[in-house]
Amino acid sequence: MNEITHQDAQRAAMLLTASIKSVTFYPQAHPAVRQPLEELAGIISDMLRDKPKIRLGVVEGVFFLEDNLFVAPNSSVAELAERLIDKDINALTVLAGVSVDDLFHFAALLARKNFSSDLIFEELAKKGVTTIRLGIEEQQDEGEAEQGDTAATRTYFDALNAVRGAMKDIEKGRIPASDQINEVVDSMVSLAVRDHATLLGLAMIKDYDNYTFNHSVNVGILAVALAAYLGMDQEALRDTNTAGLLHDIGKTRIEKSILNKPGKLSGEEYEEMKKHAEKGSEIVNRMENIHPRVADAVLGHHIRYNRTGYPEWARQRAFDQLADILAVADCYDAITTLRAYNSPIPPKGALDVMRRVSGTSLRSELVEKFEEMMGEYPVGSLVRLDTNEIALVVRPHPLESCEAAVKIIIDAQGNNLDPPKVVRLVEQDGTRYAGIVALVDPLMKNIDVSRYFLM
Ligand SMILES: [Fe+2]
Ligand SMILES: [Fe+2]
Repeated sequence: MNEITHQDAQRAAMLLTASIKSVTFYPQAHPAVRQPLEELAGIISDMLRDKPKIRLGVVEGVFFLEDNLFVAPNSSVAELAERLIDKDINALTVLAGVSVDDLFHFAALLARKNFSSDLIFEELAKKGVTTIRLGIEEQQDEGEAEQGDTAATRTYFDALNAVRGAMKDIEKGRIPASDQINEVVDSMVSLAVRDHATLLGLAMIKDYDNYTFNHSVNVGILAVALAAYLGMDQEALRDTNTAGLLHDIGKTRIEKSILNKPGKLSGEEYEEMKKHAEKGSEIVNRMENIHPRVADAVLGHHIRYNRTGYPEWARQRAFDQLADILAVADCYDAITTLRAYNSPIPPKGALDVMRRVSGTSLRSELVEKFEEMMGEYPVGSLVRLDTNEIALVVRPHPLESCEAAVKIIIDAQGNNLDPPKVVRLVEQDGTRYAGIVALVDPLMKNIDVSRYFLM
C-alpha cells in the first residue's frame, strides 16, 4: 500500500486553506475556487486509490493527515489547523469517491463564521455529502491499525506500554511474549524510514517517574533513527529497535534499592548493577521470535568500543555493530535526561561529551554519523534567534540549521508564549523568519524542554 507523502499531505492541506479563502469571495465556477478544489480532489483521489478512507485533523494542536504529523507547519497548514480547532473539529474522515462538489460544500461551510462542527455536518448531510464525515471512522479492514490518533505519538505510548508489559512479566517470573514488542517495532521502523525527524522529537520526551521505561523507548528510537540514517536494511532496523527497547530489561532483576538509589553506588552495589546486561541478554534469548543478535547486543551494550566495559567475561567476544549503535543511543539519552544524581545536559553539550569518549567508549564513525543526523542545532536545543526570541528546536535538518523548525517559547520582550508559536526558520519558498544566534542553557532559563515534545 502506498504511503501518503508529507509533501502530498501538505499540498492537500494548503489547497484546502486556499479553497476556504476563495469561496468567501467567489462563486463555485470562478477559477480561484475551481482550480484549488480540482487539484485538491485530484490529490485526494490519488491518496484514496488503494485505501478506502483518509483521516485528518488536529491532535494537541498538531495537524495530521494519516501518518503525517505537522509539528512545524507552514503558515497555510497552521491556518487550517487553527480553523479546525476553532470549529471544534478534531478529526475528519474522507471517503473514496469524494467529488469536487463535496469539497466545495465543505470548504464553504468551513469558511462560515460561527459555524461549528455540528452545524457543518448537519448542512453537509442536507446537501447529500456523504464522503466527508466528522470524527474518525473505525478501521474495518484488518491489517491496518490506524485510528486517527497521531501515529508517531501513539507509537511512542504503545512502546512505553510494551516495555512496561515485558518488565511486569519478568517481575512475575515469566519470560515475556514478544508480540506486543514486535508490533511496536513494526510501527517504529516504518516511522524511522519515513520521518525520522518526528521520531527524534519524541525521544526528547523525558519522564523522570518512569525513567526505565521512558529511557528504553528513547534508546529504541535513537538507535533505530541512527540505523536508518546509516542506511541499514529493514531487518537490521527491526533488530536495532528491538534491542533498544529491551536493552535495560535486565534491570528488572536488580534490587530496587540499588536501582533507585539516589547518589553514588557503593562498589558492591555497582557490581550488582552491572549484571543487568547479562541478565537482560538471558531474558531476551529466551523470548520467542526475536533474533539472537538482539540478545547479543543487549549483552554488549556496556562493553564499550575499546572493550573496557562489562560484563568483563565478554570483553574478548566479537559483537556486531548493533551493540555499538545501542551504546551511542544509550549514552545520548542518559546524558540528556535529568536524574537524581546529575543535571541534564542540553543536546549540543551531550554531543560534546560523546565526542570526548569517541574512539574509546564509543565507536567514532557512529558518533560522527549521529552528530551529522542530529544537525547543527539538535532537536531539543534551546536557542536564541536574531529576533531576540527564545525558541526550542523541534525539527532539525542535518547540517543545515536554516531549515530547522522551532517553537518560540519566549518572545522578544521576555514574555512566555503559551502555547508556543511554531515557525520554520526559512520557509520553503525562501522567506526567512529568523536565524539562530546561539544556544541557550535551559537550566538558566528554567525551562522544562521535555514538556514541549509531549503532543
Ligand atoms: Fe544499561
Ligand atoms: Fe540504558
